[in-house]
Amino acid sequence: MKAVILYASSHHGNTKKVAEAMAEVLGAELVDLTQEQKADLSDFDLVGIASGIYFGKVHNAMQTFLERAVFREGQRAFAVCTCGANNGDYAKRMADMLEGKGLTCVGSFWCRGFDTFGPFKLVGGLAKGHPDRSDLEKAKEFARGLM
Ligand SMILES: Cc1cc2nc3c(=O)[nH]c(=O)nc-3n(C[C@H](O)[C@H](O)[C@H](O)COP(=O)(O)O)c2cc1C
Repeated sequence: MKAVILYASSHHGNTKKVAEAMAEVLGAELVDLTQEQKADLSDFDLVGIASGIYFGKVHNAMQTFLERAVFREGQRAFAVCTCGANNGDYAKRMADMLEGKGLTCVGSFWCRGFDTFGPFKLVGGLAKGHPDRSDLEKAKEFARGLM
């Protein structure tokens, strides 16, 4: 199975850690969308997108990617996000974005990620230590389920 995970992770590398854990299981190629864009994804059997959440949205680099990328109709895909809040809605929204692009979303995963944005910094940050070992184990378990 040829898999790729495209990620955007600019705050603390939280999403990158989760993407790397999943890529290890899937033997997936990893693409850092903040460094390079990938236009043609049609060659892959499985496409993962992973992003931190910033002001309720995916990273700008992820947004740009989703607007431009070329997929195969019905291609298998999954969505991953990390966020400061205890809120699984963001991952569901990302899954909807994939479906909106004509892909078949086969799962979504989220966990909390250390957040020191703005006032949270003053109180030592939200979700300190996340993703932790348990989050990364769950991420790997999720990835195994995709194989
Ligand atoms: C500018 C900014 C805005 C953020 N907005 C939200 C938000 O709206 N909701 C939320 O749950 N977390 C928010 N966060 C927290 C991040 O989603 C969280 O720390 C995430 O794990 C960052 O991932 P990264 O380290 O991969 O960039 C925000 C963080 C930053 C820096």
